[in-house]
Order: sequence, then structure tokens, then C-alpha cells
Amino acid sequence: MITIKNQREIKVMQEGGKILATVLKKVVNAAKPGISTKELDLLAEKLIRQLGGEPAFLGYQSHSEDNPYPASICTSLNEEVVHTIPSANRILKKGDIIGIDAGVRYKGFCTDMARTVGIGRISSEKEKLIQVTRKALSIGIKKVKEGGYTGDIGAAIQKYVAKQGFSVVTQLVGHGIGKNVHEEPRIPNFGEPHTGTELKEGMTIAIEPMVNLGGSEVETAPDGWKIITKDNSVSAHFEHTVAVTKNGCEILTPL
Ligand code: MF3
Ligand code: CO
Repeated sequence: MITIKNQREIKVMQEGGKILATVLKKVVNAAKPGISTKELDLLAEKLIRQLGGEPAFLGYQSHSEDNPYPASICTSLNEEVVHTIPSANRILKKGDIIGIDAGVRYKGFCTDMARTVGIGRISSEKEKLIQVTRKALSIGIKKVKEGGYTGDIGAAIQKYVAKQGFSVVTQLVGHGIGKNVHEEPRIPNFGEPHTGTELKEGMTIAIEPMVNLGGSEVETAPDGWKIITKDNSVSAHFEHTVAVTKNGCEILTPL
């Protein structure tokens, strides 16, 4: 079921999204050589609660499996695409790239956001991958408006990424979002214009391109969460939650 949010609900998601963006900025700033991903997770949880939200990922149940997500953020390094569980044993080092993904529940509504950043000096290849993924998200966001299609978003993202010589992940997709982190419709980062779901004012969606330096294929690690590239090439991820409007959209998780 696709839910349409009214003005009041959008306003709540705006406030939650502001909390999320503020927290993610602080966590990104704390991502320096020597810190563990567990410390980043604890910082995120503390800040989210201080600002009146709850960590939306903590305890998240995927499918019917009894394997709830045990942290407040995902901290995916290098060849890890998304959903890496933070760990006290994972210490950031110069040259790494880290995708930090976080979710906030505020007054009953969720927002979802991710950014990828380099730790210290990183290779020009990794730098380009991050820039291309960030731009892919903004290109996707520009396609959002009432009467547009989810396929318009995916097609634009895929076309741009392919032209840059990288590949989009097709086994995972963005999603509608609201009372739950994951709602309908699916928001693929690939496809054809004018296909998929027609967008309507009041829909709230999370657009989240995942871009690999090598091939597009990914696989799930034995922990049931971590997604890694099949060819071990590095990967980047950016995500915003947006609300569809008559003529475009409003970014609910502004940087
Ligand atoms: N942005 C991530 C996604 O949409 C959020 C995952 S929630 C988690 O897949 F709990 F699974 F981490
Ligand atoms: Co998401």
C-alpha cells in the first residue's frame, strides 16, 4: 500500500529529517582515523535521543527472519555496499571510504539518509566514485514531481552512472517511507522512463543510489545484513528522504 501524507505529517517528517541531517553531519565529522564504527554508532544514538528522536534502524526486522538490526546506523566500509553492523573492532584508517546510513523515528514517522565520505586522503578513484554517487542522487531527485514515474528516477541515475564508467546496484532499491522505514513503492536506481509507479503529491520516498567501481553484483554476508560487492570493488551510497510536490519535491533531510 502506498501512503499519502497530509500537510501535518509532512511537517513532522520535516522536523524528524532535520534532526537526522544534524546528527549525520556530526557523525560524519567524527569519522576520523582511529575511531571505531561502534563509537560512531553510540554517538549517533546519543544525539538522536538528545534531539527527541528514536533510532529507526535499531531492532528493525527484515522480512520474517528473527535477526533484528542491532544498531542505530550502518557503517559500510570500502567494498561493503550497505547495512554493515558497527563494531568495536572496526577502526577507521586513512584511505578508507565509509558509507554512514541512519534513520530517525520522530512523532511516529521515519526519515532515512546516508552519505559516503573519505577518511584522510583517499585515492582519486575513490574520490570520483563518491562524487559520482552524490551527483547520481541529485540527478534522481530532480526527476521527482507529481505525475512523474519511479522509472524516471532510476533511468536518469543509471544513465549518468554508466556514462561515468561505474555500475549501479540493481539487487537493492530505494523505497517509500513513513510510519515504517520501508514502505511501497520500490525506487530502483535503474529502469526505463515512464514505467513503474506514478508519483503523487504527498508521497514520501527515500532515493538511495549505490554505485560500484566494478561490476553491479552484490551478495549478503553470513551475518544476514552486510551487503558486499561480488568482485570486491569499492562502493558508495548516498540517500535522501524527499516529499513529492506538484512541481518537484522537498528534501526532508537537507544537508
Ligand atoms: N537506508 C537503509 C535501507 O533502506 C536502511 C536500512 S534499515 C536497517 O535499506 F535497519 F536495515 F539497517
Ligand atoms: Co533507505
